[in-house]
Amino acid sequence: MKLLVTGGAGYIGSIVTRMLLDAGHRVVVLDDLRTGHSVALAPEAEFVQGRVHDAAEVITPEAGFDGVLHFAALIQAGESMIKPELYWQNNTVGSLALLDAVRAAKVPRLVFSSTAAVYGNPTELPIRETAVTAPTNTYGSTKLAVDLALTSEAVAHGLAAVSLRYFNVAGAYLAGSVALGERHAPETHLIPIALDVVAGRREKLQIFGDDYPTSDGTCVRDYIHVADLARAHLLALTAARPGEHRVFNLGSGSGFTNRQVADVVREVTGHPLPVEVAPRREGDPAALVASADLARTELGWTPEKPTLHDMVTDAWAFYRDQILERS
Ligand code: UFG
Repeated sequence: MKLLVTGGAGYIGSIVTRMLLDAGHRVVVLDDLRTGHSVALAPEAEFVQGRVHDAAEVITPEAGFDGVLHFAALIQAGESMIKPELYWQNNTVGSLALLDAVRAAKVPRLVFSSTAAVYGNPTELPIRETAVTAPTNTYGSTKLAVDLALTSEAVAHGLAAVSLRYFNVAGAYLAGSVALGERHAPETHLIPIALDVVAGRREKLQIFGDDYPTSDGTCVRDYIHVADLARAHLLALTAARPGEHRVFNLGSGSGFTNRQVADVVREVTGHPLPVEVAPRREGDPAALVASADLARTELGWTPEKPTLHDMVTDAWAFYRDQILERS
């Protein structure tokens, strides 16, 4: 297939691009490099630097795309509470412009990066796709708006749409000479921040809140290895059905408190990892754990690296070899 990958210079988009190319697809990457990195771009993919708002310049009827994988987005739940307008403009308005281009060019299928953040504080764990959507942060709201638009688009115009709702993505893709991983700047995610402490770039790990209704008072998250997540996109592409919007959760099905994550980082790195409790971060749900049963049964997806230990091991290998060694 000929595929457009928006956000193909980012953490997840670059790994999916690599896998698509390895599977024999042709890939064009559209990325504005605002948060993506040119070092993550696959040399065999055509690269267009630009915003999704201008996707119509790339997705022309003549270009003959068979599908779009839409990753490009702002992703910080905390920041989205302080600068909501940025998130609505970038994530929602940008995606609607992309959908206009997809419709005009009659591109048959689209796979969208949705998020567990659409569920807010769930009433039941693990979370199924049928759970109520009530985001607690603007980031989740902007993604949910796109999910709803995709449902309409599929019903009204026949698009084959799939939303993949990611839980907390971790780890790196390390295969031969390929090393792709997380390089957010500024970094806001728990595991890479903990690795900053291990590497001596920060003094201690701040844990945001220890008075949540969880086993040790810190938030619970479900971590998924980025390579497992990426493989699900290739399955979703072939599972997309014209006129349907299919939604799948992607997580490992087990929750870890922030303190437990810190323990695994200590175990993997051998570093004492000093921790300090800080106030809650605005918009954080207490616990998010996926039921990924639907992805298993309908997509035939099975995670190959479901343990947090594996994820932190790969994240640390990437951090040590690609970030520390080269800085
Ligand atoms: N946390 C800390 N200290 C830090 C950073 C994070 O205690 O320095 C805590 C957060 O408060 C939260 C947990 O670690 O309780 C995980 O936070 P992350 O920022 O790593 O991830 P989020 O759960 O906020 O969000 C991530 C992605 C979203 C996605 C969501 C789905 O960034 O895009 O997972 O669960 F929607």
